[in-house]
Amino acid sequence: MKGIILAGGNGTRLYPITKSLSKQLLPIYDKPMIYYPLSTIMLAGIREILIISNPEYIDMYKRLLNDGSHLGLKIDYEIQEKPRGLADALNVGEDFIGKDSVCLILGDNVFYGQGFGPKLQKASEVERGAVIFGYYVTNPSEFGVVEFDEQGNVLSLEEKPSKPKSNYAIPGLYFYDNSVIEKAKNLKPSARGELEITDLNREYLKEQQLRIELLGRGFAWLDTGTYDGLANAADFVRTIQKRTGLYIACLEEIAYRNKWITKEELIKLGKEYEKTEYGQYILRFASDMN
Ligand code: G1P
Repeated sequence: MKGIILAGGNGTRLYPITKSLSKQLLPIYDKPMIYYPLSTIMLAGIREILIISNPEYIDMYKRLLNDGSHLGLKIDYEIQEKPRGLADALNVGEDFIGKDSVCLILGDNVFYGQGFGPKLQKASEVERGAVIFGYYVTNPSEFGVVEFDEQGNVLSLEEKPSKPKSNYAIPGLYFYDNSVIEKAKNLKPSARGELEITDLNREYLKEQQLRIELLGRGFAWLDTGTYDGLANAADFVRTIQKRTGLYIACLEEIAYRNKWITKEELIKLGKEYEKTEYGQYILRFASDMN
C-alpha cells in the first residue's frame, strides 16, 4: 500500500496567516502540521509516500522532508496546479499509485489515540473496497457525515449536510483499493466545481464495498481549520507531551520503532536538533532503548 498526503488548497479560512504560507506547514506547537498526518501514514506501516501541494509551496516541503530516506521512507512530490477538490489527489497521484492500493490523508488532519497503529494496519490490509472512519462530533454539518445501522453497515454519506442524519463526521483519512483510480477519473465536479471525496466514497457505497471503522471515546481528532482550532491543537499536543513525557508525531521515533532506521541513524537525527526539546526527546528515547 502507498500513501498520499494532500497538502494543497489556499487556506482562505486562516487568512492572513496563510496568505503567503502553506497551511500544512504552520506549526502545531513544536512541529509543522504535516508531521502529524505523516506520522499517521507511518503508523499504518506505509513507506512509499506522495506529497501533493501547490506549485508555489512544493519546494518548501522538499526542503523539510527531502526524499524521506533519513526516515527509511521514499517520498515523492507532485504539483496540483489548482485546488480541484480532494478527490483530485487520486488523479494527480495516478502514476504514483500504479497497481497498488492507497491511503489518502488530508495534510491538516491530526489524530491521537491509543491503539491507533493496529487500527491503521488493519485498514491498510484492504484488498477490495474502501475503509473510512467515523468520529462523533457535535457539529457534523461542518464535515462529511456517515449514517450507519447497528451492524455497522453504511447507509448514507453526505458532504456538509444542513440536516445531518448522524453525529458521525468522516475524518480526512481514507483507504482505497486500486479501483479508486478509475472511480476518481469518472467523478463529475460538484455544484461548487470540485471533485468531492464524499462522491468518491459513495461510489464504493453503491458497490457495497465501503467499510467504516469508528474512532471511539478517548480518541482525539483535532480540527485545525480555524484560529481557535489551531491554538487548541497546539495546546493539546503540548499538554499531552508534557504530561506523559511521550511525543505525538515524532517521526524519528516511529521510523525507529518500525525498524526502518538503525539506532545510529536515530542518534544522528537527534543530534541535528540537539538544541531543541524535540531533539533531546529523540536522544533520550535512543538511550532508553538500550
Ligand atoms: C474535507 C472533506 C470532509 C471531511 C473533512 C475532514 O472537508 O470534504 O468530508 O469530513 O475534510 O477534515 P474540508 O475540511 O476540506 O472542508
